[in-house]
Amino acid sequence: MQIEVHNYAMYYEDQGSGIPLLLIHGFPLNSQLWKPQIEGLSDIARVLAPDLPGHGRTEAKEGPYWMDELAEDMDAFLDELEITVPVVVAGLSMGGYIALAYHRQHSSRMAGLILASTRAEADPPQTKQNREKVAEIARKQGVKPIVDDMLPKLLSPKTRDERPEIVQQARDIMEQTSVEGIVGASLGMKDRPDSSETLDKIMLPTLIIHGADDRVVPLSRAEEMHKRIVKSRLEVISDAGHLVNLEQPDRFNEIIRDFLSTL
Ligand code: MLT
Repeated sequence: MQIEVHNYAMYYEDQGSGIPLLLIHGFPLNSQLWKPQIEGLSDIARVLAPDLPGHGRTEAKEGPYWMDELAEDMDAFLDELEITVPVVVAGLSMGGYIALAYHRQHSSRMAGLILASTRAEADPPQTKQNREKVAEIARKQGVKPIVDDMLPKLLSPKTRDERPEIVQQARDIMEQTSVEGIVGASLGMKDRPDSSETLDKIMLPTLIIHGADDRVVPLSRAEEMHKRIVKSRLEVISDAGHLVNLEQPDRFNEIIRDFLSTL
């Protein structure tokens, strides 16, 4: 499905009924990342999974894609769908950066927060340099070298060794990202504000989920968020890397189901 959001056409999945559950994907992915959640949770929630600009089937817009601006786009998306009841906002990795920005802007619209494979800190200098490099490589050589470099880091050793279908699925999703999407998101993440102070202000029930083998965001980042967010619960999933929801969908969905039942 498609909807007009801030003058661009946003593709999204919308399945089920019940409490709205907004799933914001990571980089460079799209709503297909959430296939196991769309299929596995739509009996208890209205699962909404948009493709961010330049990712999947949503057209690119002019970058950089600032996390705060993407959060405003998420709000406009909810407005367009005429959602008036409180929403559970879930973000994985870059989606988590956007979810934290969304909380800064519109916490009164939220019923709960789910932070998967993510962190609150801004990028350190070395990472900022890498973001520039990623944008440069994508501009000159396209999307494939970025996917080739990132893919092995996104999955646990067990997934990489034993589940070629998941490796292929992740690759297929990533390869749908446009050059503009890679550049816009990389440069937007590079200069994202530090959200550490935001953590102390989160009074909503919050679920933090992390793969024990995440090589992109260390588990210590999730533990720090758990310490600072008062009403938070941390769940660590074994045999899962950065794409924890895709690698261990049954466990991931069970944890979310349980969380939603407490709201
Ligand atoms: C993501 O999965 O969204 C990215 O790895 C996040 C990042 O590069 O910081």
